[in-house]
Amino acid sequence: MHKAKKEIREVIPKMDLIIEVLDARLPFSSENPMVASLRGDTPCIKMLNKSDLADPAVTQQWLDHINHTSGMKAIAVNLKQPDKIRSVLAMAPAMVPERNLEVSQLKAIILGIPNVGKSTTINILASRTVAKTGNEPAVTRQQQRIKLPNNIVLLDTPGFLWPKLEPRDCGYRLAISGAIKSTVIEFEDVAMYLAEYMMQYYPDALVQRYQLKDIPHTGIELFDRIGQRRGCMRRGGIADTHKVAEILINEFRDGQLGRITLETPDMIADHGSRKSGEGS
Ligand code: G4P
Repeated sequence: MHKAKKEIREVIPKMDLIIEVLDARLPFSSENPMVASLRGDTPCIKMLNKSDLADPAVTQQWLDHINHTSGMKAIAVNLKQPDKIRSVLAMAPAMVPERNLEVSQLKAIILGIPNVGKSTTINILASRTVAKTGNEPAVTRQQQRIKLPNNIVLLDTPGFLWPKLEPRDCGYRLAISGAIKSTVIEFEDVAMYLAEYMMQYYPDALVQRYQLKDIPHTGIELFDRIGQRRGCMRRGGIADTHKVAEILINEFRDGQLGRITLETPDMIADHGSRKSGEGS
């Protein structure tokens, strides 16, 4: 990880553009924490990927929020709309107007935490299958320079960059999405966080999916009700929490609970104010 950080720290100042692939369901938590600190004035395109799984109204809030930040443009994409992903190839030159692409290449780096869909996005941009970079032995460890149309060269860097685990909510959201392994945070805690979030923000989706008469008052009650519905009860009428946790998380990841977003720009502003109020 240290090597990856070092590489990225050296390479970003040489880039014309940063393309960051984010998960549209958690655009703040899935940001690479290093990008904000290393970006400087380099223009940045934030691709909110997996938009097919995210709440469209909240995705629009995120697009507006990011598009108001100087030097940044956001676009919501998903693998079912490859042409929209490829529209980034037209957006990129507009973000670097001083670069004459007939004379010199536009150098862009692509970043994204694991499982966000970076490889899928690269393959669509390049219109071919590009070997995946990463930190596992089976995948390419070298930096790759990928030639794209419009005289754009995309730099893909290997290495695992530790995602945001603070504030605590970010860690939970990343674990729900599958970006971090459930060994980092207890799996059942992760599902309980999702259950309580859904009860607060998407109660109708729970009612519909699990045919509930009403919304229970606590996450534990919700687990019991799902357990009853899905036949995973232990003796004594208590839900098998591990099985229910798996059901909830898997059905969220597959989009079976509906299009759900785990954070809004307002919630993030709230994290910031809680943080600045800490210790006062
Ligand atoms: P990474 O390089 O960032 O690690 O991610 P990768 O492209 O390998 O994608 C991770 C998983 O996310 C893959 O699913 C991929 O199909 C899925 N994915 C990528 N983009 C989208 C999208 O826009 N919408 C949805 N719904 N899923 C997306 P997988 O289960 O790991 O593999 P597979 O289903 O492709 O076999």
